[in-house]
Amino acid sequence: MRQFNHHHGRLLHTAVLLLLFLIRPSTSDIASDRAALLALRAAVGGRILLWNISSPTPCSWAGVNCSPDNSSVIELRLPGMGLSGTLPANTISNLTNLQTLSLRYNALSGPLPADLFSSLLLLRSLYLHQNFFSGEIPDSLFSLKSLVRVNLAENNFSGPISSGFNNLTHLTTLYLQENHFSGSIPELNLPSLVQFNVSYNNLTGKIPKGLSRKPKSSFVGNSLCGDPLDNSCGSEKHKKKLSDAAIAGIVVGSVLGLVLILSLVFCLRRKLGTKGVGRKKEGASKEKEVEDSMEIQGKNSTRDKVKEKEKEKGEVSVINAGKKGLVFFGNMGWNFDLEDLLRASAEVLGKGTFGTAYKAVLETGLTVAVKRLRDVIMGEKEFREKMEEIGKINHENLVPLRAYYCNRNEKLLVFEYVPMGSLSALLHGNKGAGRTPLNWETRVAIALGAAEGVSFLHSQGPKISHGSIKSSNILLTRSYEARVSDFGLAQLAGLTSTPNRVSGYRAPEVTDPCEVSQKADVYSFGVLLLELLTAKAPTHEEGFNLPRWVESVVKDEWTAEVFDLELLRYQNIEEDMVRLLQLAVDCVAQYPDKRPSMVEVTSKIKEIYCSSLHDPSGDIVNVVSALPTP
Ligand SMILES: *[C@@H]1O[C@H](CO)[C@@H](O)[C@H](O)[C@H]1NC(C)=O
Ligand SMILES: *[C@@H]1O[C@H](CO)[C@@H](O)[C@H](O)[C@H]1NC(C)=O
Ligand SMILES: *[C@@H]1O[C@H](CO)[C@@H](O)[C@H](O)[C@H]1NC(C)=O
Ligand SMILES: *[C@@H]1O[C@H](CO)[C@@H](O)[C@H](O)[C@H]1NC(C)=O
Ligand SMILES: *[C@@H]1O[C@H](CO)[C@@H](O)[C@H](O)[C@H]1NC(C)=O
Ligand SMILES: *[C@@H]1O[C@H](CO)[C@@H](O)[C@H](O)[C@H]1NC(C)=O
Ligand SMILES: *[C@@H]1O[C@H](CO)[C@@H](O)[C@H](O)[C@H]1NC(C)=O
Repeated sequence: MRQFNHHHGRLLHTAVLLLLFLIRPSTSDIASDRAALLALRAAVGGRILLWNISSPTPCSWAGVNCSPDNSSVIELRLPGMGLSGTLPANTISNLTNLQTLSLRYNALSGPLPADLFSSLLLLRSLYLHQNFFSGEIPDSLFSLKSLVRVNLAENNFSGPISSGFNNLTHLTTLYLQENHFSGSIPELNLPSLVQFNVSYNNLTGKIPKGLSRKPKSSFVGNSLCGDPLDNSCGSEKHKKKLSDAAIAGIVVGSVLGLVLILSLVFCLRRKLGTKGVGRKKEGASKEKEVEDSMEIQGKNSTRDKVKEKEKEKGEVSVINAGKKGLVFFGNMGWNFDLEDLLRASAEVLGKGTFGTAYKAVLETGLTVAVKRLRDVIMGEKEFREKMEEIGKINHENLVPLRAYYCNRNEKLLVFEYVPMGSLSALLHGNKGAGRTPLNWETRVAIALGAAEGVSFLHSQGPKISHGSIKSSNILLTRSYEARVSDFGLAQLAGLTSTPNRVSGYRAPEVTDPCEVSQKADVYSFGVLLLELLTAKAPTHEEGFNLPRWVESVVKDEWTAEVFDLELLRYQNIEEDMVRLLQLAVDCVAQYPDKRPSMVEVTSKIKEIYCSSLHDPSGDIVNVVSALPTP
């Protein structure tokens, strides 16, 4: 254009604009984006049916974000919106200014339309994980040079992994796990790629050199070979040896308690070894240790591979020497020692933020919960002081620490065992046909119990907080009374050991997980209340922010939409549900000063609880039994 004089250049410019306008009359204006979204809505339904379609602009619709001047849609985020069916052509692909597309955690199926990506030249983030999409990745994806994050995991995609990914030079995340991709992995030359996962597909052949430094867990569940996996390519002998080891592993794995026992013995022996006890055996057992490296496979989960280098033979005498290690609190009349604990049959309850929890049944029949801490950054003296502090705290809505064991390598906490599992499991587990709905009274009672527990903690001093309030830390007794667990443990762990899973509950001002204020606890408690009301897990996917989601739905006056469908079957509880929702929203206020105290929260929940008792129509059984008998 430089060759033209100014006048000509201008004319040409106008002509090009006009031409564009004539050929694609509506590509970049908000009306065409609106039309595309309406066509999508008609095809996939779900909660986007609640969009106010009389509104002339789509910019106020839930999940739709526009450019600052509202001239085009730049983000479409519809996670967990109950969308189903297939994506039609000429819908999303018409949103030509789209930068973020998130349709994760829906029930969308069928192949992606071939044109899906051809016009989305500004797309940076693509989240399609946890759907039922099938077929191959359309080639149009590989022309989107601006892509930074791609997550297609947990779908039913098939076909090869294209070397076209090499076109996406800004890619930092490529998640393709849990699909049916087949063939070999192409050499990927992507300097920014940090997160990469192709596990649980149908891939074969050698892992390319450029990916050999990714973690093992990025490749498992395929027929791949080479680094970083243990099986090198094309060595028959080696393969045979491995499968023998796997069989041995499964046999060992079926005795669940052994995992705990072996690892404890290992740590204990190391301690005693340094003190000179059992030194005689040390030389011999070191050799054994090297020989007997094997894989122990968990009973229920083939995915959780635990590596143990251990040998149980000849260690019993060493255990005997380690009796007096346990420090008890309170007078429960508990009378057992470390040896009894090691002999107990153990079962893995779960892997939490601070370590693995086991249910241990002692020979006397006593059942306790044992938590094996990992990554404790605190010194031993400080740790013991901390335990004394936690051990003193006692309340009917808290899970009391009853004993602990501590040496340089191993830290164990012993708690009372709470039989009905966690609130998280109750809300999110067993979504299938056999599920018993969790009724309103039970939910409010759990909220109240948990609030009382946290309130009590806060009453112990202005600096005392829980630090890790979340639904998996609310345990339930047989009568569904809430008991809060894991209090005070957040301070034990370093920054690095705090996984993202807690971040869904974490107040925005918290930067150091070791320093969580009482008001930050209130925020986490607010998220917990929202979870009880919506049955949505704040942590179920990366980037999902439950408070923000609730805020956006409520702002659009679809308050009824936020509630768990299970609750909507009960009558006359709407008012109480909205009161609890309001309280939860107050708790998750952006600024700590705006949040109520835990005492205020508790008294409000108590009011709601009493109201639900006075008007006991919340239970479907009551409704039915209120009908006149024929
Ligand atoms: C998408 O754009 C194409 C081409 O511009 C047009 O034919 C189609 O009608 C648009 N789709 C919708 C749903 O507006
Ligand atoms: C839907 O949008 C129209 C037009 O903007 C508005 O008048 C109406 O009040 C909205 N309806 C609801 C339920 O928000
Ligand atoms: C854009 O749309 C949103 C939602 O409808 C509205 O709140 C905002 O004021 C609009 N911005 C402009 C610049 O018109
Ligand atoms: C996934 O695809 C396979 C074939 O590749 C098919 O047999 C299976 O039914 C599909 N599963 C779902 C849930 O769509
Ligand atoms: C990669 O980009 C080039 C040039 O932009 C293009 O010609 C090629 O088709 C792309 N590769 C694939 C697999 O789409
Ligand atoms: C795995 O890939 C092979 C071809 O590479 C194919 O024959 C087989 O059906 C695939 N299996 C599954 C479960 O997709
Ligand atoms: C890869 O995905 C699998 C299955 O979802 C998961 O178990 C594993 O931890 C992931 N690994 C990495 C490095 O993301």
